[in-house]
Amino acid sequence: MRLNRLSLAAAVTIIALGNMVPLHAQDALPAPDPAIASMSPDELVTTRENKMKENGGILRSAAGLTGAAAEEAATTLLQNYVDFIPLFDQRSQSALTNSALPIAWEDWAGFSALFEQSQQAALAMKTAAGAGDQAGYVKAVETLGGLCGQCHGKYRL
Ligand code: HEC
Repeated sequence: MRLNRLSLAAAVTIIALGNMVPLHAQDALPAPDPAIASMSPDELVTTRENKMKENGGILRSAAGLTGAAAEEAATTLLQNYVDFIPLFDQRSQSALTNSALPIAWEDWAGFSALFEQSQQAALAMKTAAGAGDQAGYVKAVETLGGLCGQCHGKYRL
């Protein structure tokens, strides 16, 4: 009996550990803002324009930040880069203020890959800032900054 109970406990632990690995990897990226799902085309555009501007403001001083302020900057950037993917939903193409080029949707794989790379750079900023690795943090800020122009040059009016 006792042995059985022990092996059951061990099996449960192993299953729990097995599940934790992928769950943990997913935890690294936050979920997109649930409000995005019900936004009108104009709201999608306005929201992403505001987030683009917010990112630009953060980027201007990000390299000089350290510690908690650096982690906070990275957290905001990461959330915005996660939100951009649903904010560029197809339905926003009909919005009057939309200034993304049609190629953004035609080449969705290339366009969204730049957002995913930006997410990874923001994540690297956050991890490095949390570990007190200032050189790694600044390098990730530079990587993130380089992706702005790469995308705008091809996918933006
Ligand atoms: C993967 C593509 C992509 C990346 C990466 C990207 N942007 Fe943009 N950005 C766009 C598109 C597309 C628009 C056009 C806005 C629209 O239609 O909503 C835009 C618009 C903007 C605007 C104008 C917002 C307005 O009010 O019209 C600013 C400012 C901006 N981006 C800053 C940045 C900065 C700073 C970065 C990097 C930290 C960046 N963007 C990264 C695609 C991108």
